[in-house]
Amino acid sequence: MTILAIESSCDETSAAVSVNGKIQSNVVATQLIHEQYGGVVPELASRVHQQRIVPVVERALHEANIQKNALNAVAFTRGPGLLGSLLVGTSFAKALALALAIPLIEVHHMQAHVLAHFIDEQATPRFPFLCLTVSGGHTQIVLIRDHLEMEIIGQTQDDAVGEAFDKTAKLLNLPYPGGPLIDRYAQQGNPLAFPFPEVEMPGLDFSFSGIKTAFLYFLRDRTKANPDFIAQNLPDICASIQHTLIRILLTKLRKAARQTGIREIALAGGVSANSGLRSALAEMGRQEGWKVYIPKFEYCTDNAAMIAMAAHFKYLKGEFTSQEVSPLPRW
Ligand code: KG4
Ligand code: ZN
Repeated sequence: MTILAIESSCDETSAAVSVNGKIQSNVVATQLIHEQYGGVVPELASRVHQQRIVPVVERALHEANIQKNALNAVAFTRGPGLLGSLLVGTSFAKALALALAIPLIEVHHMQAHVLAHFIDEQATPRFPFLCLTVSGGHTQIVLIRDHLEMEIIGQTQDDAVGEAFDKTAKLLNLPYPGGPLIDRYAQQGNPLAFPFPEVEMPGLDFSFSGIKTAFLYFLRDRTKANPDFIAQNLPDICASIQHTLIRILLTKLRKAARQTGIREIALAGGVSANSGLRSALAEMGRQEGWKVYIPKFEYCTDNAAMIAMAAHFKYLKGEFTSQEVSPLPRW
Protein backbone atom coordinates (compact mmCIF):
# COMPACT_ATOMS: atom_id res chain seq x y z
CA MET A 1 0.00 0.00 0.00
CA THR A 2 1.81 3.10 -1.26
CA ILE A 3 0.42 6.51 -0.35
CA LEU A 4 1.47 9.99 -1.42
CA ALA A 5 0.43 12.58 1.18
CA ILE A 6 0.29 16.36 0.84
CA GLU A 7 0.19 19.00 3.56
CA SER A 8 -0.44 22.66 2.67
CA SER A 9 -2.63 24.04 5.47
CA CYS A 10 -0.43 26.95 6.54
CA ASP A 11 3.10 27.98 5.57
CA GLU A 12 4.76 24.62 4.94
CA THR A 13 4.49 22.88 1.58
CA SER A 14 5.12 19.23 2.31
CA ALA A 15 4.84 15.85 0.60
CA ALA A 16 5.56 12.38 1.96
CA VAL A 17 5.41 8.82 0.71
CA SER A 18 4.52 5.85 2.90
CA VAL A 19 4.63 2.15 2.04
CA ASN A 20 2.56 -0.09 4.34
CA GLY A 21 2.51 2.62 6.98
CA LYS A 22 6.27 3.21 6.91
CA ILE A 23 7.49 6.66 5.91
CA GLN A 24 9.85 6.52 2.92
CA SER A 25 10.26 10.26 2.41
CA ASN A 26 9.08 13.49 3.99
CA VAL A 27 9.96 16.71 2.16
CA VAL A 28 9.10 19.98 3.92
CA ALA A 29 9.56 23.39 2.27
CA THR A 30 9.06 26.17 4.81
CA GLN A 31 8.02 29.57 3.47
CA LEU A 32 10.38 32.23 4.73
CA ILE A 33 8.63 35.11 2.96
CA HIS A 34 6.27 35.71 5.93
CA GLU A 35 9.10 36.63 8.30
CA GLN A 36 9.25 40.22 7.04
CA TYR A 37 5.50 40.70 7.68
CA GLY A 38 5.49 39.43 11.26
CA GLY A 39 2.96 36.68 10.51
CA VAL A 40 1.64 34.43 7.76
CA VAL A 41 0.11 36.41 4.88
CA PRO A 42 -2.55 34.04 3.46
CA GLU A 43 -2.44 35.38 -0.09
CA LEU A 44 1.35 34.99 -0.28
CA ALA A 45 1.18 31.54 1.34
CA SER A 46 -1.14 30.14 -1.31
CA ARG A 47 1.00 31.54 -4.13
CA VAL A 48 4.14 29.97 -2.71
CA HIS A 49 2.32 26.64 -2.29
CA GLN A 50 1.42 26.83 -5.97
CA GLN A 51 5.04 27.36 -6.96
CA ARG A 52 6.38 24.64 -4.71
CA ILE A 53 3.87 21.83 -4.82
CA VAL A 54 5.10 20.14 -8.00
CA PRO A 55 8.83 20.14 -7.13
CA VAL A 56 8.10 19.10 -3.52
CA VAL A 57 5.97 16.14 -4.65
CA GLU A 58 8.56 15.14 -7.25
CA ARG A 59 11.27 15.21 -4.65
CA ALA A 60 9.24 13.12 -2.20
CA LEU A 61 8.62 10.49 -4.91
CA HIS A 62 12.27 10.56 -5.96
CA GLU A 63 13.58 10.18 -2.39
CA ALA A 64 11.21 7.28 -1.80
CA ASN A 65 12.26 5.76 -5.13
CA ILE A 66 8.61 5.44 -6.15
CA GLN A 67 7.10 6.04 -9.60
CA LYS A 68 3.76 7.83 -9.80
CA ASN A 69 2.03 4.80 -11.28
CA ALA A 70 3.02 2.72 -8.22
CA LEU A 71 0.84 4.87 -5.94
CA ASN A 72 -2.32 3.32 -4.43
CA ALA A 73 -3.84 6.50 -2.98
CA VAL A 74 -3.32 10.25 -2.67
CA ALA A 75 -3.96 11.92 0.69
CA PHE A 76 -4.26 15.60 1.52
CA THR A 77 -5.03 17.94 4.42
CA ARG A 78 -8.66 19.03 4.05
CA GLY A 79 -8.51 21.38 7.06
CA PRO A 80 -8.38 23.19 9.35
CA GLY A 81 -6.09 25.86 7.90
CA LEU A 82 -5.94 28.76 5.48
CA LEU A 83 -8.47 28.41 2.67
CA GLY A 84 -6.17 29.44 -0.18
CA SER A 85 -3.36 27.22 1.06
CA LEU A 86 -5.66 24.23 1.56
CA LEU A 87 -7.07 24.73 -1.94
CA VAL A 88 -3.66 24.23 -3.52
CA GLY A 89 -3.06 20.87 -1.81
CA THR A 90 -6.66 19.74 -2.26
CA SER A 91 -6.80 20.58 -5.97
CA PHE A 92 -3.43 18.99 -6.62
CA ALA A 93 -4.40 15.78 -4.79
CA LYS A 94 -7.75 15.58 -6.58
CA ALA A 95 -6.16 16.06 -9.99
CA LEU A 96 -3.46 13.48 -9.36
CA ALA A 97 -5.90 10.89 -7.99
CA LEU A 98 -8.18 11.45 -10.98
CA ALA A 99 -5.33 11.15 -13.48
CA LEU A 100 -4.01 7.95 -11.87
CA ALA A 101 -7.52 6.58 -11.18
CA ILE A 102 -6.68 5.86 -7.53
CA PRO A 103 -8.54 6.70 -4.30
CA LEU A 104 -8.38 10.07 -2.60
CA ILE A 105 -8.09 10.34 1.20
CA GLU A 106 -8.93 13.51 3.16
CA VAL A 107 -7.11 14.09 6.44
CA HIS A 108 -7.91 16.29 9.44
CA HIS A 109 -4.78 18.27 10.26
CA MET A 110 -5.10 18.01 14.05
CA GLN A 111 -5.88 14.29 13.93
CA ALA A 112 -2.71 13.90 11.87
CA HIS A 113 -0.64 15.74 14.51
CA VAL A 114 -1.82 13.11 17.03
CA LEU A 115 -1.16 10.22 14.64
CA ALA A 116 2.44 11.40 14.15
CA HIS A 117 2.99 9.21 17.23
CA PHE A 118 2.57 6.12 15.06
CA ILE A 119 5.36 7.01 12.63
CA ASP A 120 8.01 5.41 14.82
CA GLU A 121 6.75 1.90 15.54
CA GLN A 122 9.14 1.52 18.47
CA ALA A 123 7.45 4.29 20.46
CA THR A 124 3.70 4.20 19.91
CA PRO A 125 1.35 5.04 22.81
CA ARG A 126 -1.18 2.45 23.94
CA PHE A 127 -4.94 3.12 23.82
CA PRO A 128 -6.54 4.93 25.46
CA PHE A 129 -4.08 7.80 25.70
CA LEU A 130 -4.25 11.55 26.18
CA CYS A 131 -2.59 13.94 23.77
CA LEU A 132 -1.84 17.57 24.49
CA THR A 133 -2.05 19.04 21.00
CA VAL A 134 -0.47 22.46 20.82
CA SER A 135 0.03 24.44 17.61
CA GLY A 136 -0.27 27.89 16.12
CA GLY A 137 -4.02 27.45 15.72
CA HIS A 138 -5.04 24.90 18.38
CA THR A 139 -4.63 23.99 22.02
CA GLN A 140 -6.44 20.80 22.90
CA ILE A 141 -6.44 17.86 25.25
CA VAL A 142 -7.57 14.91 23.16
CA LEU A 143 -8.65 11.50 24.43
CA ILE A 144 -7.66 8.88 21.86
CA ARG A 145 -9.46 5.54 22.04
CA ASP A 146 -8.31 4.23 18.68
CA HIS A 147 -6.40 5.54 15.65
CA LEU A 148 -9.43 7.29 14.25
CA GLU A 149 -11.53 7.58 17.40
CA MET A 150 -10.71 10.81 19.19
CA GLU A 151 -12.56 13.12 21.56
CA ILE A 152 -11.53 16.67 22.47
CA ILE A 153 -11.99 16.90 26.25
CA GLY A 154 -10.47 20.36 26.72
CA GLN A 155 -9.53 23.26 24.48
CA THR A 156 -8.74 26.94 24.34
CA GLN A 157 -11.60 29.38 24.44
CA ASP A 158 -9.59 32.12 22.71
CA ASP A 159 -5.96 32.16 21.49
CA ALA A 160 -3.91 29.05 20.83
CA VAL A 161 -0.75 28.66 22.87
CA GLY A 162 1.41 28.91 19.71
CA GLU A 163 -0.31 32.21 18.99
CA ALA A 164 0.51 33.34 22.54
CA PHE A 165 4.17 32.49 21.91
CA ASP A 166 4.16 34.30 18.56
CA LYS A 167 2.31 37.38 19.82
CA THR A 168 4.53 37.84 22.86
CA ALA A 169 7.55 37.45 20.57
CA LYS A 170 6.13 40.16 18.33
CA LEU A 171 5.79 42.51 21.32
CA LEU A 172 9.47 41.83 21.99
CA ASN A 173 10.26 42.79 18.37
CA LEU A 174 11.35 39.26 17.50
CA PRO A 175 10.65 38.03 13.94
CA TYR A 176 7.90 35.54 13.03
CA PRO A 177 7.53 32.74 14.03
CA GLY A 178 8.54 33.82 17.51
CA GLY A 179 7.96 30.53 19.37
CA PRO A 180 11.37 29.00 18.56
CA LEU A 181 13.13 32.28 19.45
CA ILE A 182 11.40 32.59 22.83
CA ASP A 183 12.49 28.99 23.41
CA ARG A 184 16.11 29.82 22.54
CA TYR A 185 16.36 32.96 24.73
CA ALA A 186 14.49 31.25 27.57
CA GLN A 187 17.27 28.69 27.86
CA GLN A 188 19.58 31.41 29.22
CA GLY A 189 17.02 33.12 31.45
CA ASN A 190 15.48 32.83 34.89
CA PRO A 191 11.88 31.50 34.63
CA LEU A 192 10.95 33.06 37.96
CA ALA A 193 12.30 36.55 37.19
CA PHE A 194 8.89 38.03 36.34
CA PRO A 195 5.63 36.52 37.57
CA PHE A 196 2.62 36.63 35.22
CA PRO A 197 -0.96 35.97 36.28
CA GLU A 198 -2.84 32.87 35.17
CA VAL A 199 -6.52 32.97 34.25
CA GLU A 200 -8.59 30.29 35.99
CA MET A 201 -10.65 28.40 33.44
CA PRO A 202 -13.36 25.89 34.31
CA GLY A 203 -12.97 22.19 33.54
CA LEU A 204 -10.23 21.26 31.12
CA ASP A 205 -10.39 24.40 28.97
CA PHE A 206 -7.67 26.98 28.42
CA SER A 207 -7.50 30.73 27.91
CA PHE A 208 -4.45 32.61 26.69
CA SER A 209 -5.79 36.03 25.79
CA GLY A 210 -5.54 37.34 29.37
CA ILE A 211 -1.87 36.56 29.70
CA LYS A 212 -1.19 38.25 26.39
CA THR A 213 -2.85 41.44 27.64
CA ALA A 214 -1.03 41.21 30.98
CA PHE A 215 2.23 40.87 29.07
CA LEU A 216 1.43 43.92 26.95
CA TYR A 217 0.83 46.08 30.05
CA PHE A 218 3.90 44.63 31.76
CA LEU A 219 6.13 45.64 28.83
CA ARG A 220 4.51 49.05 28.52
CA ASP A 221 5.11 49.86 32.20
CA ARG A 222 8.64 48.51 32.29
CA THR A 223 9.80 50.22 29.09
CA LYS A 224 8.29 53.50 30.27
CA ALA A 225 10.54 53.34 33.33
CA ASN A 226 13.52 52.01 31.35
CA PRO A 227 13.53 52.23 27.54
CA ASP A 228 16.23 49.53 27.39
CA PHE A 229 14.26 47.10 29.55
CA ILE A 230 13.68 44.54 26.78
CA ALA A 231 17.26 44.55 25.52
CA GLN A 232 18.64 44.23 29.06
CA ASN A 233 16.30 41.45 30.18
CA LEU A 234 15.38 39.46 27.08
CA PRO A 235 16.39 35.98 28.36
CA ASP A 236 14.60 36.51 31.71
CA ILE A 237 11.46 37.86 30.00
CA CYS A 238 11.35 34.92 27.58
CA ALA A 239 12.00 32.36 30.32
CA SER A 240 9.28 33.86 32.53
CA ILE A 241 6.58 34.01 29.86
CA GLN A 242 7.44 30.53 28.60
CA HIS A 243 7.36 29.18 32.16
CA THR A 244 3.85 30.62 32.66
CA LEU A 245 2.52 29.23 29.36
CA ILE A 246 3.95 25.79 30.11
CA ARG A 247 2.49 25.83 33.62
CA ILE A 248 -0.99 26.62 32.26
CA LEU A 249 -0.72 23.72 29.80
CA LEU A 250 0.63 21.16 32.22
CA THR A 251 -1.69 22.00 35.12
CA LYS A 252 -4.67 21.20 32.87
CA LEU A 253 -3.03 18.13 31.42
CA ARG A 254 -2.43 16.78 34.94
CA LYS A 255 -6.05 17.46 35.83
CA ALA A 256 -7.19 15.57 32.71
CA ALA A 257 -4.93 12.62 33.49
CA ARG A 258 -6.12 12.39 37.08
CA GLN A 259 -9.78 12.72 36.04
CA THR A 260 -9.60 10.02 33.38
CA GLY A 261 -7.07 7.81 35.17
CA ILE A 262 -5.04 7.64 31.96
CA ARG A 263 -1.26 7.50 32.27
CA GLU A 264 -0.24 7.21 28.65
CA ILE A 265 0.43 10.84 27.77
CA ALA A 266 1.50 12.24 24.40
CA LEU A 267 2.46 15.65 23.09
CA ALA A 268 1.81 16.88 19.53
CA GLY A 269 1.76 19.98 17.31
CA GLY A 270 4.28 22.70 16.54
CA VAL A 271 4.67 23.93 20.13
CA SER A 272 5.76 20.44 21.18
CA ALA A 273 9.11 21.41 19.66
CA ASN A 274 9.54 23.70 22.69
CA SER A 275 12.45 22.43 24.79
CA GLY A 276 11.05 23.82 28.05
CA LEU A 277 7.71 22.08 27.48
CA ARG A 278 9.40 18.80 26.58
CA SER A 279 11.51 18.73 29.73
CA ALA A 280 8.70 19.97 32.02
CA LEU A 281 6.38 17.27 30.65
CA ALA A 282 9.01 14.59 31.16
CA GLU A 283 9.45 15.81 34.75
CA MET A 284 5.71 15.84 35.44
CA GLY A 285 5.52 12.36 33.93
CA ARG A 286 8.08 11.11 36.45
CA GLN A 287 6.12 12.66 39.32
CA GLU A 288 2.75 11.36 38.17
CA GLY A 289 3.88 7.92 37.00
CA TRP A 290 3.01 8.57 33.33
CA LYS A 291 4.51 7.06 30.25
CA VAL A 292 5.27 10.13 28.16
CA TYR A 293 5.53 10.18 24.35
CA ILE A 294 7.16 13.09 22.58
CA PRO A 295 7.50 13.01 18.80
CA LYS A 296 10.78 13.54 16.99
CA PHE A 297 11.48 17.17 16.19
CA GLU A 298 10.73 16.88 12.46
CA TYR A 299 7.28 15.44 13.17
CA CYS A 300 6.27 18.18 15.65
CA THR A 301 5.80 21.07 13.23
CA ASP A 302 3.72 20.71 10.07
CA ASN A 303 4.79 17.86 7.81
CA ALA A 304 3.21 15.45 5.34
CA ALA A 305 4.53 12.31 7.07
CA MET A 306 1.81 12.70 9.68
CA ILE A 307 -0.77 13.12 6.90
CA ALA A 308 0.50 9.88 5.33
CA MET A 309 0.18 8.15 8.71
CA ALA A 310 -3.43 9.27 9.17
CA ALA A 311 -4.16 8.26 5.57
CA HIS A 312 -2.70 4.82 6.22
CA PHE A 313 -5.26 4.14 8.96
CA LYS A 314 -8.08 5.56 6.84
CA TYR A 315 -7.05 3.39 3.90
CA LEU A 316 -7.20 0.30 6.12
CA LYS A 317 -10.77 1.22 7.06
CA GLY A 318 -11.74 2.04 3.48
CA GLU A 319 -12.41 5.69 4.29
CA PHE A 320 -12.06 7.40 0.93
CA THR A 321 -13.17 10.81 -0.34
CA SER A 322 -15.07 11.73 -3.49
CA GLN A 323 -13.87 14.11 -6.19
CA GLU A 324 -16.55 16.56 -5.00
CA VAL A 325 -14.53 17.38 -1.88
CA SER A 326 -13.55 20.96 -1.03
CA PRO A 327 -11.34 22.28 1.80
CA LEU A 328 -12.70 22.99 5.28
CA PRO A 329 -10.74 25.92 6.79
CA ARG A 330 -12.66 25.69 10.09
CA TRP A 331 -13.17 21.94 10.29
O1 KG4 B 1 1.78 22.79 14.16
P1 KG4 B 1 2.42 23.99 13.58
O2 KG4 B 1 3.69 23.82 12.80
O3 KG4 B 1 1.43 24.76 12.66
C1 KG4 B 1 0.08 24.88 12.98
O4 KG4 B 1 -0.66 23.91 12.68
O5 KG4 B 1 -0.26 25.92 13.58
O6 KG4 B 1 2.67 25.01 14.80
C2 KG4 B 1 3.28 26.26 14.61
C3 KG4 B 1 3.42 26.94 15.95
C4 KG4 B 1 3.85 28.40 15.85
O7 KG4 B 1 3.03 29.17 16.70
C5 KG4 B 1 5.29 28.36 16.37
O8 KG4 B 1 5.71 29.57 16.99
C6 KG4 B 1 5.21 27.25 17.37
O9 KG4 B 1 4.42 26.26 16.74
N1 KG4 B 1 6.53 26.70 17.69
C7 KG4 B 1 7.11 26.83 18.90
C8 KG4 B 1 8.39 26.22 18.82
N2 KG4 B 1 8.53 25.72 17.54
C9 KG4 B 1 7.37 26.03 16.88
N3 KG4 B 1 6.67 27.42 20.02
C10 KG4 B 1 7.49 27.40 21.09
N4 KG4 B 1 8.72 26.84 21.08
C11 KG4 B 1 9.20 26.24 19.98
N5 KG4 B 1 10.42 25.68 19.98
ZN1 ZN C 1 -0.04 21.95 12.55
